[in-house]
Amino acid sequence: MKHLLATDGLDAETATAVLDTADELKHTLLGREVKKLPTLRGRTVITLFYENSTRTRVSFEIAGKWMSADVINVSASSSSVNKGESLRDTALTLAAAGADCVIIRHPASGAAHRLSGWLAEAGTSVVNAGDGTHEHPTQALLDAATLRERLGSLNGRRIAIVGDVLHSRVARSNIHLLSTLGAEVVLVAPPTLLPVGADRLPVTVSHDLDAELPAVDAVMMLRVQAERMTGGGFFPSSREYSISYGLSERRQELLPDHAVVLHPGPMLRGMEIAHAVADSPASAVTEQVRNGVHVRMAVLYHLLASEGAAA
Ligand code: CP
Repeated sequence: MKHLLATDGLDAETATAVLDTADELKHTLLGREVKKLPTLRGRTVITLFYENSTRTRVSFEIAGKWMSADVINVSASSSSVNKGESLRDTALTLAAAGADCVIIRHPASGAAHRLSGWLAEAGTSVVNAGDGTHEHPTQALLDAATLRERLGSLNGRRIAIVGDVLHSRVARSNIHLLSTLGAEVVLVAPPTLLPVGADRLPVTVSHDLDAELPAVDAVMMLRVQAERMTGGGFFPSSREYSISYGLSERRQELLPDHAVVLHPGPMLRGMEIAHAVADSPASAVTEQVRNGVHVRMAVLYHLLASEGAAA
């Protein structure tokens, strides 16, 4: 694997190899006081974030450091991007400075793909840490890792992805990865928060959350992305959204006992998900964050250290 840009097109074998490596790394580090492996010693990993982040940026930094890479964080707001430097020039500068891998978050869909083209000559790997409304592949991988831990195989499992699907790169990456791994995906959203062409995705679509909950193995609540609702579309108010698509305590009762509740964070408690549900034993929100570190370690391993890293 040279880059990780999307889960659309990521084959089951590669995805499973990353998940298995993450699992192995997790068990290797379990209970260790000093969490440090020498695997990426001498490698330089740069995170380049043009949008805010807590989980993704921090867990990539921890992942790199636990594997002994040198990790440097660049945020657009405190770099020469603020003086007008283009994305291309910024990327070429980081590669020239010695980056083996650039992890990018950017508001434009396709930014990570463009970067991988510009950095081809330098041989620098690129990881998409979220590009616009397009993809967030490491989030989907950590969600799959969490679901595998809770449910075993994903094959034949039914997963509901609920809420603002239109603006969600998390949803898009999960739709592709979960279906590649054999799960059935149902999107549950108001018509105005579904993407055009949803009928061409490997999913079924529903507008009735209460009707779907009794038959799912997991429910993935999405963040409502108010910052992307700028096109003058007809979007539900917070109250309408919460009433129809929020995971309340009453709705949690409709879920089977074994069902897992996921949320990629940051959560809008009280609107997308009730406090009590987010903090309930069914909720895997904290495990998602924990698994995010191991999954990102595994991604860095497959990009920079494994036999197939140069492919
Ligand atoms: N889930 C996720 O991408 O969270 P951050 O925006 O905090 O990185």
